[in-house]
Amino acid sequence: MKCKRCGERAEVQLRAHNTAFCRTCYLFYFRRQVERAIAAQHMLVLGERILVAVSGGKDSLALWDVLVDLGYDTTGLYLGLGIGQYSDASQEKVERFAAGRALPLRVVKLEAEGPGLGVPAVAAASRRAPCAACGTMKRHYFDAAAFTGGFDVLATGHNLDDEAARLLGNVLRWQKDHLARQRPVLPPTHPKFVRKVKPLYLTSEYETAVYAFMRGIDYIVDECPNAAGATQLLYKAALDRLEVESPGTKLAFVKEFLRTAQPAFAAVEQREPQECAGCGMPAYGALCSFCSLVREVETRRARTASPLPA
Ligand code: AMP
Ligand code: FES
Ligand code: ZN
Repeated sequence: MKCKRCGERAEVQLRAHNTAFCRTCYLFYFRRQVERAIAAQHMLVLGERILVAVSGGKDSLALWDVLVDLGYDTTGLYLGLGIGQYSDASQEKVERFAAGRALPLRVVKLEAEGPGLGVPAVAAASRRAPCAACGTMKRHYFDAAAFTGGFDVLATGHNLDDEAARLLGNVLRWQKDHLARQRPVLPPTHPKFVRKVKPLYLTSEYETAVYAFMRGIDYIVDECPNAAGATQLLYKAALDRLEVESPGTKLAFVKEFLRTAQPAFAAVEQREPQECAGCGMPAYGALCSFCSLVREVETRRARTASPLPA
């Protein structure tokens, strides 16, 4: 097979795009895809201060690599979730990546912050699945770090596979409020929120894996130990099967949702957040979902520590 751009021997075949590239042209293609997504959705402006959430996985490190290449002013943010060896290994990958390129990095360890709770403690004490608790906590610390650090925008490495799986989950349960907010760019709805962007939302997991490999990015290959059995993985597997039979399914699913259906959901759901009575960050109730979660954990712990007299 030949590279569609230069005619040399191709190293990567992209069935969803009905194309193939040699190494040099693939790197060019990948960067241009990200650049186009950023421009088409007005995600970033050169000169803005961008906080890039990096987990140590291939997507977020590939994103950071491309953003630096494109000349953006970036700072990395790593959250230490407290998930044992997995967190230690992923932090090391992020620190090495940043040090090797002399990039600024902020590390926030959840167990050293306010309530002193990592993901395992919260998951054990609340009745939520670890991933659900983790999602709430990550969002809170992303928002807090972006706001207190005075950043203009927060970028995450969510890729096409993540977005398609999330969309499938939201559609299967018709979660209208989630569908209203599932967009590659979320403008701030409160002065304490910054814009949130996902520049890789049209880039498949396979594409970022190839990019990371070709760029020699050392990332954590292991999945989070809590991921096994998560419904998100079931949706990903279902979409992978569809994609094999019909390449381009994921891309069409996400792109057409954003073009045709998402605006209708967004037009109906327009809730303005207030300030959380606990932490002062924006909230849709008296407490934000992070503070509700923390309160739930504290209440349950207090109950177990002081059992009622017999
Ligand atoms: P996930 O929720 O694990 O699918 O990750 C989605 C995106 O969230 C990643 O691409 C990162 O941008 C960000 N992210 C996930 N975990 C972390 C973490 N521990 N620290 C910083 N960013 C993270
Ligand atoms: Fe959050 Fe695994 S990364 S539970
Ligand atoms: Zn709060």
